[in-house]
Amino acid sequence: MLCLGIETSCDETALALVRDGRLEDAVLATQESVHALFGGVVPELASREHYRFMGVLYDTLMQRVGATASDVDVFAVSRGPGLLGSLLVGVAFAKGLAFAAQKRVLGVDHLQAHLLAAGLEQPFTFPALGVLVSGGHTHLYRMENAADDVDTDAFMPTFRVLGRTLDDAAGEAFDKVGKILGLPYPAGRLLDALAARGRKECDTASLPHFPRPYLDNDNLDFSFSGLKTAASAYVKAHKEALLWQNDYDVRNIDTAPLALCAMCAAFNEAVVDTLCKKVERALHAHADIKTLILSGGVAANSLLRERLAQSIHERGGHFIAPSASLCTDNAAMVAYPGWLYARAGYAHDLSFSAIARGQRIPDDWRRITHN
Ligand code: KG4
Ligand code: ZN
Repeated sequence: MLCLGIETSCDETALALVRDGRLEDAVLATQESVHALFGGVVPELASREHYRFMGVLYDTLMQRVGATASDVDVFAVSRGPGLLGSLLVGVAFAKGLAFAAQKRVLGVDHLQAHLLAAGLEQPFTFPALGVLVSGGHTHLYRMENAADDVDTDAFMPTFRVLGRTLDDAAGEAFDKVGKILGLPYPAGRLLDALAARGRKECDTASLPHFPRPYLDNDNLDFSFSGLKTAASAYVKAHKEALLWQNDYDVRNIDTAPLALCAMCAAFNEAVVDTLCKKVERALHAHADIKTLILSGGVAANSLLRERLAQSIHERGGHFIAPSASLCTDNAAMVAYPGWLYARAGYAHDLSFSAIARGQRIPDDWRRITHN
């Protein structure tokens, strides 16, 4: 069974083909440089860029694998949550293709897709704890399935939200503090690299201390806005020491002032520590968890990976963080659950809608018994 996945929820236009659970090929156009000028994603520009690239990317992918729309069995698309105008480009394109080729269409939950994508690289067992940390989301999920394994005909997963951010997402906290420090958008990767140098070269006692916000409660939610405020106050008070000289080259971390590396190490540690403490609590409350899946752009964070892997290994469970290209927004993560759902007999009709950020995604599938 061949599934074409389409992703347009934010600032990446992506398409991928998954055949029988294996990735065949994928194409992606990032809009990072368009939005970098504004220090964040501009929704109107994002939709226009998706519209501009969609047809070209589709032709490129299909020509590369030598397929046409009629070879595809199911068209899967990220239906939300995301920027509504951007989602509509992908959803309309998927519906058009499915209608023209008289094949199935499936709207996929973008957040669930981030976590399920782990199954493309290795089979995993349920119940799983899904830790989704990206530029737009910070969610903890308890993931269960009708069967123990992900790759099975009895695919009927449930995702229960255990906790989520009440304000900024983890990646947003990195990006906003990066902006205050004058780092290019998105700042997470660079801040992580500067932090690694800070950890290596600075005396731990000399690092600034930032608060671990929103831990003094018994829930599994997060709040990062206070941490951002604390970082902002620190930067104001130490601006000169933190300033990377004008024409710096972000690929050359060695030229950064040590005070900046120390600040990044302390901030990174505060975000990671806060995330890990709540994950620890979730693992304690859900002692039957067999797999911890870490996904989303922030999953690239070296310290976070190390700490979460340790937490689940200590409990005898497995740690999975998909490769970087599967963690950030991509279409393979849409095509794979699309294929899983289609194989289990799910489909949408053409009336399913795109869902904006903050709204619940309905379970409005149809079950079909034959293709
Ligand atoms: O998943 P993603 O591509 O976009 C959304 O769906 O939002 O994640 C991008 C986010 C950005 O906020 C970026 O700064 C952050 O992931 N990020 C990192 C790292 N690499 C990317 N944050 C911390 N450490 C990293 N190594
Ligand atoms: Zn995403």
